[in-house]
Amino acid sequence: MKKKILITGGAGFIGSHVVRLFVNTYPEYDIFNLDSLTYAGNLENLSDIDKSDNYTFLKGDITNEEYIESIFKEYRFDSVVHLAAESHVDRSITDPLSFAKTNILGSMVLLNSFKNLWQNNWNDKLFYHVSTDEVYGTLGETGLFTETTPYDPNSPYSASKASSDHFVRAYGETYGLPYVISNCSNNYGANQFPEKLIPLFINNIINNKALPVYGNGKYTRDWLYVVDHAIAIDLVFHKGKNKETYNIGGFNEWQNIDLIKLLCVQMNQKLGRSEGESEKLITYVKDRPGHDLRYAIDASKINKELGWKPSVTFEQGLSKTIDWYLNNKEWMQSIVNGDYKNYYEKQYK
Ligand code: NAD
Ligand code: DAU
Repeated sequence: MKKKILITGGAGFIGSHVVRLFVNTYPEYDIFNLDSLTYAGNLENLSDIDKSDNYTFLKGDITNEEYIESIFKEYRFDSVVHLAAESHVDRSITDPLSFAKTNILGSMVLLNSFKNLWQNNWNDKLFYHVSTDEVYGTLGETGLFTETTPYDPNSPYSASKASSDHFVRAYGETYGLPYVISNCSNNYGANQFPEKLIPLFINNIINNKALPVYGNGKYTRDWLYVVDHAIAIDLVFHKGKNKETYNIGGFNEWQNIDLIKLLCVQMNQKLGRSEGESEKLITYVKDRPGHDLRYAIDASKINKELGWKPSVTFEQGLSKTIDWYLNNKEWMQSIVNGDYKNYYEKQYK
């Protein structure tokens, strides 16, 4: 019997890279992509693999208990790689309840159906929760998040992800459900929705629009190329130990303003603009409430135990990312023509 793997949120940014990697690498698995296609879900992200024999798309909402229970009964998934979530911090500030619903309740519904199906036979089963480094809260000027850093989330988004991590662990302890969790830093790459810093700024540079830098721009993030995250997820899925957490990061810290300047330099070159031209678009705006000062991951555990490290430098990854957006303008256009306009006006008015 072929192993059946349910990947949730596979039409989103990271999920689509994970689905592609699994579909292409493992013809011996049947891959099911469950996604409700919110504003962030886009089946175009998977147009290159959606005809593959080992791929099935299921349109459905992880908070719909009856539906989720029914697909677990019908397909009897051996494993779950759970990525479906509301993922944008700014949206969690304006609409926290939808984050609680999807990220907490939705995760519980999945855990519960998985438990109901396999609780008398956990052999070879796995629930993998793809989580974030934001659960650890914020760092000061120094230090790194390790797997034992206490949870201290500051935004409704990170609180909802922390809560779902806790429920995964609780199901492990209470029902013996086999699980792994990974907590990853900021991803960037192709197919990222232009609400997040890098694609939003790429799009604005192309269109000569202001680049809205929150606060003083001195916030620091640790950036990882999305393909490297997908490779790490594959490794953790296959080689991670039951009940373990793995931190995933790029060994690549940037203050926002320095990152934005690098982006402007690369964009000036690619668009044939003169030196300093895109930089003129930089505009300091009101800060994000509860803005975490700094995230930085100690990824030595996954490096030592599973042999993972990022495959590209930030300069290479950023260049590939810009090229993807320049070569896929219709992808961006179909987004900015829709509800995005309203979102943008409200968020940046
Ligand atoms: P995304 O917003 O691009 O995609 C989320 C996907 O989930 C979309 O396809 C959406 O349609 C789907 N979805 C949302 N609600 C759903 C529901 N109720 N039922 C079914 N599907 C639903 O997110 P992303 O940036 O790709 O993040 C994926 C996961 O990785 C999230 O769990 C996020 O917390 C985590 N993560 C993201 C980052 C990052 O930098 N983007 C870093 C670490 C961890
Ligand atoms: O650390 C992992 C997390 O990274 C993921 O769990 C989240 O899903 C993902 O959205 C991301 O969260 P951030 O809040 O760090 O990402 P964002 O791209 O929204 O912002 C990155 C930094 O840039 C942050 O310091 C806020 C700043 N920023 C962002 C936007 C959208 C700006 O200065 N201006 C902006 O317009």
